[in-house]
Amino acid sequence: MAAVDAVYQSLREFFRPFWPGEDKPLVLGEGQAERPRLMLVGEAPGETEVIKGRPFVGKAGKNLDEFLRLAGLRREEIYVTNAVKIRPMEKGPAGRMRNRAPNREEISLFVPWLLREIEAVKPGALVTLGNVPLKALTDPKATVGSCHGQWMDSRAGVPLFSLYHPASVIYRKALAPVYEQDVLALGAWAKSSGGK
Ligand code: URA
Repeated sequence: MAAVDAVYQSLREFFRPFWPGEDKPLVLGEGQAERPRLMLVGEAPGETEVIKGRPFVGKAGKNLDEFLRLAGLRREEIYVTNAVKIRPMEKGPAGRMRNRAPNREEISLFVPWLLREIEAVKPGALVTLGNVPLKALTDPKATVGSCHGQWMDSRAGVPLFSLYHPASVIYRKALAPVYEQDVLALGAWAKSSGGK
């Protein structure tokens, strides 16, 4: 059993009494759970992730696979998780539930668990995707617009590299070359850092 499994067990127990009567499955991290070179931290699971019970397996997962290919990394050699472990939802105009960004309460509820998760997994570096994990792990005032592509210190005591969220690149096409450059820089670092 990996050290992170004990953290997940406590996390499940902690959240059991939350949201009574609501179906809010937890989507936990997966991958190389012991000292991976990189731990990728996204925002929160979406609909497909909740159905499959795995992070980054829907449309965002396809983007992630493309990102990994560009960086020359394999999914099995890294760890993938989210800052918030439930799917934040809201009712859309047609009455259908849709994803929304996690709110401040959800983020502050899950961040202590994210820190414990990082401590258990012991990654060589953290890669944040989008603003939510960046702010949670560095400074609430940090923005991906000004921090992307740079190495920073994190609250977890592990070096952190921030990237735009791959989904935001779909909506803002002008970000694509910037994002690609950041991913290539990360890939070059991963290659030169060697080992796990
Ligand atoms: N799916 C995830 O698991 N995380 C995200 O941040 C977006 C989609």
